[in-house]
Amino acid sequence: MSKLIIVSNRLPVTINRKRGELMYFPSAGGLATGLNSLDDNLNRKWVGWPGKSIKEDWERESIRNDLKGDGLVPVFLTNTEIENFYGGFSNKVIWPHFHYFTQYTDYTHDAYWKAYVKVNRKFAKEVTPLIEDGDTVWVHDYQLMLLPGMIRETHPNVAIGFFLHIPFPSYEIFRILPWREKILQGVLGSDLIGFHTFGYMRHFLSAAYRIGGFEHQFGRMEIAGRKVNVDVYPMGIDYEKYAFHDPDKTDDSVQAIMNISKGLRLVLSVDRLDYTKGIPQRIRAIGRFLASHPEYTRQVSFVMLVVPSRDSVDQYQELKHEVETLVGEVNGLHGTFDWTPIKYFYRSLSFGSLNALYQRSDVALITPLRDGMNLVAKEYIASKERSKRGVLILSEMAGAANELTDAITVNPQDSEEMVKALDQALSMTVEEQEMRLTKMQNRLRKYDVSNWAAAFMKDLKKLTMPTNGKKANLIDQAVVDRMIEDYSKSKNRLIMLDYDGTLMGFQADPQAVSPDDELLELMEVLAKAEGNTLIFNSGRDHLTLEKWLGHLGTDMAAEHGVWQRRNGKWQQAAGMTNQWKERVMEVLDGMVERTPGSFIEEKEYSLAWHYRKADKELGAKRVREFREVLSYLTSNLDLQVLEGHKVVEIKNAGVNKGKAAATWVAENDFDFAITIGDDHTDEDIFKAMPDGAYTIKVGEGATEAKYQVANVDSVRKLLTKLAASDKVQVG
Ligand code: UDP
Ligand code: G6P
Repeated sequence: MSKLIIVSNRLPVTINRKRGELMYFPSAGGLATGLNSLDDNLNRKWVGWPGKSIKEDWERESIRNDLKGDGLVPVFLTNTEIENFYGGFSNKVIWPHFHYFTQYTDYTHDAYWKAYVKVNRKFAKEVTPLIEDGDTVWVHDYQLMLLPGMIRETHPNVAIGFFLHIPFPSYEIFRILPWREKILQGVLGSDLIGFHTFGYMRHFLSAAYRIGGFEHQFGRMEIAGRKVNVDVYPMGIDYEKYAFHDPDKTDDSVQAIMNISKGLRLVLSVDRLDYTKGIPQRIRAIGRFLASHPEYTRQVSFVMLVVPSRDSVDQYQELKHEVETLVGEVNGLHGTFDWTPIKYFYRSLSFGSLNALYQRSDVALITPLRDGMNLVAKEYIASKERSKRGVLILSEMAGAANELTDAITVNPQDSEEMVKALDQALSMTVEEQEMRLTKMQNRLRKYDVSNWAAAFMKDLKKLTMPTNGKKANLIDQAVVDRMIEDYSKSKNRLIMLDYDGTLMGFQADPQAVSPDDELLELMEVLAKAEGNTLIFNSGRDHLTLEKWLGHLGTDMAAEHGVWQRRNGKWQQAAGMTNQWKERVMEVLDGMVERTPGSFIEEKEYSLAWHYRKADKELGAKRVREFREVLSYLTSNLDLQVLEGHKVVEIKNAGVNKGKAAATWVAENDFDFAITIGDDHTDEDIFKAMPDGAYTIKVGEGATEAKYQVANVDSVRKLLTKLAASDKVQVG
């Protein structure tokens, strides 16, 4: 059974030494909490750093054994690696740079880059021996951007996914990095690259193009003969876990939280201590709010939970000092003898306590200056599932703001706006709170973390699966000779031909593809020869076919089988069903999940996906994908896809070219059959043909047809040979 190998710098558990003894704690941070709540039936391994420097071999071995049962594989880092790879390149170069804090980026330490390469190699050495046939490797985040490329070197065919949990900055920022090409190349070793938002994806594609020269088409690139796809997968949370957690009545600290600031409204913020989280700006805005809104004195309590993070990095140490000074200032200035406006906690909390805090809070004030996603905002909304009371104030710079459009959004640098938002949140009616929460909860409930991972894995599998359908053979002389012989000997022949791309080449103006004299002459010979049933089976509308080919007197199928011409009369197909809707709905749901702003309209015999409110380019990309997925479905289901203005409509056609073909096949006992087509809709014809038929695809690509020819020219030559052989025999 194939497995999933997750690789991230941080494992979901972090080791700490307490009085000489090793203890395991859950890791904080969105990547670890989010990925750890995935239940993938546990055929997975997770490779990562357990968060401490462990020197002794015996101790490493014992950790390895402790983690083994949970499928965790530790990568041990030395103190120097922790300093230069983790504290250095990861957190003093990439982290600030990608969050637009270029003033903190350290471009000068060569040792940082060297350690980054070395540790990525170290990870590669741990991962590659685990890879077996059919396995998938999923690499996570900014600490391991070289790893996909390194794994690709030794395993050219393994499926590799990469997900970036932080923003990808605009090209103008990214280009400043001296190591930009190498980082790009590393990431591009993947088959599928995922981001939280379309903005990050766009920046990445622009960097790949401008720095690497890699062009893309709707996120698809071709790199050294490999296909690489880039897409958006906004990460969700384990919704149920946050929504239905009951605060533990026997736990004193949980009870203390539920009773915190009794009688006061509570405004909560939860962040790792990180300069990207906008903590000082938020405290200043709180000060301003208290100064301009004296009516809230003794009415509100601001609880700030700040989780220790990366405290070996100097900017984080300085930030701690700044935050604590600011909290002191605001409390000193606005507090009263019986009221302290800001309650500041520098620690991490257990899940139970954190959830109690979410449930107890009237408002969540989450205002990062930049944030890849921000799961805290989502967790807060989920924790209000039952009470339906609570307001989220969310920075527009958080990736989550793309989805949580019913939050009060603010610019975290605009303290005036934050003051207004606080007032609005604290005076919001319960009806409005419920209405906003319900909308956001509906989305988060549906698009949870398992959905996120499943969508990514499904796409990765699809990309790396051997092409559907069998590979056909380019037709050779021996086959042509046999075909001519069979044709000559037969008495009752079916010749079914597609029109565009088969008999005529493509042109910009579809009306300019009327048949030329040479073609008409050839068709006339084939149509008139004794024993021949010549049929045109085309996607064209029947009026055009009639105009161009009607005089030949043959039967025809038009509009992918919606119309059939028999004995000179056109008839429309009957029989509409809607059993297909459930299956298509699944596809559309996936579109909605990954295209914020789009929605589905359901009608009796059709489904429409509207994207006029979505990001324009993302909408266009999805339409394209959608077409591909649907064209795949059309080989099993009878559907028509109609594209309108910012809407795609799927209708039951009840017919396709294959079905039309089958009616003629069933009505006659042909002793020779040939069909030629170029398009995916012609695949249906190939499948509908009787055994022994010569099925021929024009052009490259996987097909159900037995043979392939290069182009329209080859088709005409082949048909001319058939026609001529007939003349010889019959004549
Ligand atoms: N969190 C935690 N312990 C705490 C407080 C928070 O594990 O004491 C979790 C929180 O539940 C959330 C994660 O840390 O899942 C923070 O993720 P987010 O995406 O908000 O920010 P990040 O830390 O990844 O930048
Ligand atoms: C963010 C990053 C993660 C990281 C986490 C905690 O969520 O995207 O990769 O693990 O912060 O940071 P730490 O440095 O403690 O791993």
